[in-house]
Amino acid sequence: RDFSERQEALVKSSWDELKQNIPQLSLRFFTWISEIAPVAKNMFSFLKDSDEIPQNNPILQLHAAKVFKLTYESAIQLREKGVVAVDPTVKYLGSIHIKNGVIDPHFQVVKEALLNTIKEAIGDKWSDELSNAWAIAYDELAHVIKKEMKDGI
Ligand code: HEM
Repeated sequence: RDFSERQEALVKSSWDELKQNIPQLSLRFFTWISEIAPVAKNMFSFLKDSDEIPQNNPILQLHAAKVFKLTYESAIQLREKGVVAVDPTVKYLGSIHIKNGVIDPHFQVVKEALLNTIKEAIGDKWSDELSNAWAIAYDELAHVIKKEMKDGI
């Protein structure tokens, strides 16, 4: 898929900023997930049966940071090769999500939460173009993970 140098730069510069504050980012990301789809929220062991998103939970921060970082890395791959490689990480993510009962529509929930979190966090540096670049990178990553999920059944 076509991914321009400018799109890559937009994703990179916003990730450089976002990664400075993972605790806050994670909290907002999971708050969005709970608002968009309470059902998806309850799949996470650290959120199940709790009304509040736990502060400073390491697993919660790891999941959020990974979603953002792997999306950023997908943007780099799209720019360099035009595709997101099906590497051991993607294969592992396919199996872990199958095991946790994740299904395709959940990826749309996480996408919206990701884009909303970015919009909130980067203030006046936000633009449609920036959001769209993140959306493309996420879609391509989600596509390969979902494919692994199907192949793994
Ligand atoms: C676990 C990444 C999308 C639900 C994980 C883990 C990673 C990850 C790295 C931790 C694996 C480990 O235990 O070592 C991603 C990425 C995604 C994505 C990069 C999208 C591009 C989703 C979606 C859902 C989801 C759409 C469903 C709402 C879960 C759950 C776990 C998990 C429930 C297990 C966490 C626990 O221990 O409770 N994911 N994920 N993920 N993911 Fe995702």
